[in-house]
Amino acid sequence: MQWFRFLPVAAALALGFGVSAAIAETPASLLERFNAEARSAGEGAGNPARGQEFFNQTHGNEWKCAACHGAVPTGKGEHAVTHKVIEPMAPAFNPQRFTDTAKVDKWFRRNCKDVLSRECTAREKADVLAWLISLK
Ligand code: HEC
Repeated sequence: MQWFRFLPVAAALALGFGVSAAIAETPASLLERFNAEARSAGEGAGNPARGQEFFNQTHGNEWKCAACHGAVPTGKGEHAVTHKVIEPMAPAFNPQRFTDTAKVDKWFRRNCKDVLSRECTAREKADVLAWLISLK
């Protein structure tokens, strides 16, 4: 009975799968994360209608999210300052969106500071992402 020799291999494989699963996000798994954070902050889950409103409103500053990403971001946007083309934000129209946690966190932080002069709350992120996922 030498089966136990394979235990370290099995453990390494399991660990490897665990790690890669943590890195490769999907829009749905990110939404789950924001929903869970919002719920634990007592704010409930994301809502697509609220996300659309949030995206298309100004929040005390000059820009809204739509200023660069477009009002309905199923197509390309254009940066309000540099006029660089921004690829569509809705995952159904751009499969690369919301698959990289570091990128998502970085841009939410940066863009929310520009638009709201603060970071977005988990509920606001859940609202926006729930709306973007609903665009088909
Ligand atoms: C001044 C222009 C500008 C504004 C305003 C803006 N963004 Fe962005 N956003 C960008 C640019 C540039 C990128 C990075 C380039 C890219 O990913 O296409 C980006 C990327 C993102 C990403 C990364 C998504 C991914 O997975 O690739 C998210 C999320 C995002 N923006 C959300 C928002 C939200 C929410 C708002 C409003 C609070 C907002 N943005 C307002 C310019 C802007």
